[in-house]
Amino acid sequence: MINKGAAIIKQGGLVAFPTETVYGLGADASNQQACLNIFKAKGRPSNNPLIVHVDSIKKARDLVLFNDDAIKLTEFWPGPLTMVLPKKAGAQIADCVTAGLATVAIRIPADKIAMELIKASGRPIAAPSANKSGRLSATTYQHVKESFGDEVFILKSDTKIAYGLESTIIDLSTSTPTILRYGFITPEAIKNVLGKEIAIASDLSEIKAPGMLHKHYAPKTKLRLNAVNLKTGEVGLNFASSELNTNGSMNLSKNGDLVEAAANLFDYLHQLDKFSLEHGIAIIAVAPIPDTGVGLAINDRLRRAAE
Ligand code: TXA
Ligand code: MG
Repeated sequence: MINKGAAIIKQGGLVAFPTETVYGLGADASNQQACLNIFKAKGRPSNNPLIVHVDSIKKARDLVLFNDDAIKLTEFWPGPLTMVLPKKAGAQIADCVTAGLATVAIRIPADKIAMELIKASGRPIAAPSANKSGRLSATTYQHVKESFGDEVFILKSDTKIAYGLESTIIDLSTSTPTILRYGFITPEAIKNVLGKEIAIASDLSEIKAPGMLHKHYAPKTKLRLNAVNLKTGEVGLNFASSELNTNGSMNLSKNGDLVEAAANLFDYLHQLDKFSLEHGIAIIAVAPIPDTGVGLAINDRLRRAAE
C-alpha cells in the first residue's frame, strides 16, 4: 500500500495518509499542478498556505533557513510541531504551497505510515488536513472516505490516531517566536525549550495566515459552548463530571483527561453531527473545558467551530 501511495505521489496524484495529529491530504510539494489539485479537492482558498512534511532535519534544511530557536525546537521532531521559517533560495517548493509567502510551514510527522510514505516517495509532501475546507478535521479512515469518496487514494492507519488535533504552529521568521495555532506542544513547553518569552497571535490582526481567521472545523449542527445544562432539542458533549445527558450524549473524557479529550474531539463531533442530523437535533451543547495545557487547543478548535 505504501508503495502504491508513493507511486501516486511521484506521478503527481493525491494521497490521503494518517499522521499522529490528523489525516493529511498530500501531494508532491515540488509539483505545482499536484498541489493545486489539493486546493481544488478541498475547496480551499488559494491564499491559505499548506504545511510541508519531510522525514529528516537534513531534508528540512534543503527547504528552509534554520535559526537558533528552530534548532532548539527540533527537540519536538518528529512530532506535532510545525515551524514557519524563511524559504531557502531555490527550494523546490511549488508557489501555491506557500500562497506566495516568503516562508514555509514545515514539520516531521511522528507516524509510521506518514514517514514511510515520505521516504518511499523521496519527495517533501505538502498536506493540509484531509477534510473539505472549513469542515471538521479527519481523524479516522472513515472521515476521509466520507469527504473524498473515491476521489483520492487513502492509506489507512491500523491504530487510532495518537493525538487527534492538528500540530502547534510557531512562526520563527519574526523577531519574537509567535504561536499561530495551539496544539499538543503547549506554549509552556516551547518557552521552556527556548528559554525566553514567546508571543501568541491571539490578536486577529497579528495572524499572518489568512485561512486561520475563518470559521473552521465546523460540523453542520450548531454548537453552544460552555453549556452547564441541556435545553430541549440539544444533545450534549460532556467533559469530566458534566451532566449534559440525553439520548446520544457523549463524554470526551470521563476522567477529565485533556489529552484523551483532544484525541476524541473531532471523532465525537463527527458522531454527534451525524446523530443530530438523523434525529432532528439543532444544537450540540458542549460542557466547559479547562483553558490550560492541551485545553487551550481544544477550546481554540471549539470556538472556531462555533463561530
Ligand atoms: O497537524 C497538522 O498540522 C496537519 C497534518 C496533516 O500535518 N495539517 C494541517 O494542515 O493542519 P492545515 O492546512 O489544516 O493547516 C495548516 C495551517 C493553516 O492554518 C495555514 O494558514 C498555516 O498552517 N500555514 C501554512 N503555511 C504558513 C506560513 N508560511 N505562514 C503562516 N501560516 C502558515
Ligand atoms: Mg485544516
